[in-house]
Amino acid sequence: MSLCVLISARAEGQPGGFTSPGSKAEAGAKISIERPWMNKALSAPRRADLLLKMMTLDEKLTMVHGAAPCLEVWTPRCPLGIEGYVGYVPGNARLGIPALRLADGRAAVGNGAHDITLFPAPIAAASGWDVDIMNAFGRALGREQWMKGTNVALGPTIDVMRVPNWGRTFESYGEDPYFNRKMAVAEIRGIQSEGPIADANMYLTMNQESARFVEDSRVDERTLQEIYLPPFAAAVREGHVGTLMCAYVKTNGVYSCENQYLLMDVLRNQLGFDGWVMSDWGATHSTVASANHGLDQEMPAGEFFGDKLKKAIADGDVSIEVLDSHVRNILVPMFRQGLFDKAQTGTWKGNARSAEHDLLSRRIAEQGTVLLKNEEGILPLSAALSVAVIGKSGTVAPKVEGGGSSGANAPYVVSPLDGIRARAASGASVTSADGSDPAEAARVAAGADVAVVFAETEETEGADRPGLELPGNQDALIEAVAAANKRTIVVLNTGGPVLMPWVDRVLGVVEAWYPGQEDGNALAAILCGDVDPSAKLPVTFPRTATAIPTSLKEQWPGVDGRSIYSEGLNVGYRWYDKTETQPLFPFGFGLSYTSFRISRLVAAKGAAGRVMLKVDVKNTGKRAGAEVVQVYVAHPAANEEPPHQLRAFAKVELQPGETKTAAMTIDRQSFSIFDAATHQWVHRGGTYELLVGTSSRDLPLKSSLTLR
Ligand code: BGC
Repeated sequence: MSLCVLISARAEGQPGGFTSPGSKAEAGAKISIERPWMNKALSAPRRADLLLKMMTLDEKLTMVHGAAPCLEVWTPRCPLGIEGYVGYVPGNARLGIPALRLADGRAAVGNGAHDITLFPAPIAAASGWDVDIMNAFGRALGREQWMKGTNVALGPTIDVMRVPNWGRTFESYGEDPYFNRKMAVAEIRGIQSEGPIADANMYLTMNQESARFVEDSRVDERTLQEIYLPPFAAAVREGHVGTLMCAYVKTNGVYSCENQYLLMDVLRNQLGFDGWVMSDWGATHSTVASANHGLDQEMPAGEFFGDKLKKAIADGDVSIEVLDSHVRNILVPMFRQGLFDKAQTGTWKGNARSAEHDLLSRRIAEQGTVLLKNEEGILPLSAALSVAVIGKSGTVAPKVEGGGSSGANAPYVVSPLDGIRARAASGASVTSADGSDPAEAARVAAGADVAVVFAETEETEGADRPGLELPGNQDALIEAVAAANKRTIVVLNTGGPVLMPWVDRVLGVVEAWYPGQEDGNALAAILCGDVDPSAKLPVTFPRTATAIPTSLKEQWPGVDGRSIYSEGLNVGYRWYDKTETQPLFPFGFGLSYTSFRISRLVAAKGAAGRVMLKVDVKNTGKRAGAEVVQVYVAHPAANEEPPHQLRAFAKVELQPGETKTAAMTIDRQSFSIFDAATHQWVHRGGTYELLVGTSSRDLPLKSSLTLR
């Protein structure tokens, strides 16, 4: 008899063929000589040009700012009768231009919407290290947005986590530019495949919430290009994202939404972006500088791009060609995404939920839960007869989502206590304590075979975490439980890294992030071993509050409004490796209930400067599982790069005893650097090392290649 009731092989696989809504192209779109831009056979830029020619000045101006239908940002009251959407641009009946309806959506449709699915936070989805999971996440979000009538989905957030205290860590993917790039492309493609235009947030150097409306990120160009730009570059070039949101902060003294270098030199000229840049809500600070330096659309209203822009055009401070370019940048993705051609019947009050999405939410949570410590075989819980579930997040108030524009109305939440009870065999005992009284919690823990204690952080947009400790009395609670029961497991519901002063006194640690509505079901599946944990950390967990890349006040939260990016390229694990600092749990790390062996690394030069790589992965354990093979590149010393950097990964599912060969490709850019002297990417060549393994600190296989 064990705690977890035996179940016959549960259908893992995909949660039941998640299909496209089949948003059918409107059959009857009239192609008339008056509206030649409705001809679907023409390219999006051509259609935009044809339409633009017919627009009056006022019609153009209407498109370059929101109409602020609602009075509050995240849970809007909407006196214009345009309900829900946090942004709205009126349509144009004369010319047949559809209205734009914008809604937040990082883990669910936000802005107070009901009848939606609450998925796990993006960092949880990313922890699966599986672009297919991330794509399914994007498709589900895109579909629910579309069903709510949204045609511009605000998300994903793709900034690289620079500061572990960043209040929006949960909302993005992690600390590595290559990793974020892969996840961003998968999610954007998913969202846009279901109807809405996706909006990549927040361009650029939006790496802290402290003083976010005025903060000035002082960062050198090489670091900007090599660390912070790649996810956005990929969103544009590989994800074909329709819109980008410029950020609140300044970069090198200039606000993002009027930053010529970022918006024109990089985005338009270097990356060739042909969609539009909208401002974050209230991130526009000027009319002429913003219009002339590349901001296309002010949100949520027209403080600078309404009457003031009209006057600036009349005064000759902004040319009509500049205005035209902004309108064109908005129209091109609208045409490309089919907004002129597709009927969209969904409404804000309509239902977007489905049983498929409930299952998908659970699957993403299961795939994103990282097993950090598992000693004496405490997990899975097969040997336990009784378990004590302790802590607020495990019992009375599960912490399932982060705050701010990511916040959403969960249709239901399965608590860990309920999830574990539902999985417990009859006769097994499940007791609980909410943790408000550590002595009572210790008493309950002492009476069970195993104690599972939950701890959480409160993370939200608008505020960084002042420290990396668990807030309140949670460390003391964990210590009290661990003292009462040697067989203690800690489950973390955090949005980013936390310190674990008690780690040596517990046998198990599980990072479940903010897991969404299926919290308890997903967690019980992991604890009971129905699902093998296969997630990996996309961020480093430090040992102490000062052993982090941004420990100086001038780095974060900054001094006199400036944050100095003095760590340069050494962001995340790069810094730990460079300074030989031992992390608590390294980037890329995560355990499984089975074991793997990787061997036989073969690397060869491919076409167009690429490197092709193969490595065998064997499941050496007794149950099915999945391993993430990670490839890091070490540059020749002359390139002065961080010690090694992630450049490829593959998730491999294996039956016991099975071996598969993982094939990966490293692109040429991975061997290039940004040359600050000439302001361009250069490929200097030399001898590069490829390091392959299963975390940034466990790289047993090596191969060298000399590239020109
Ligand atoms: C956030 C954005 C969000 C917008 C609208 C801003 O405060 O930074 O990410 O999309 O509000 O809610």
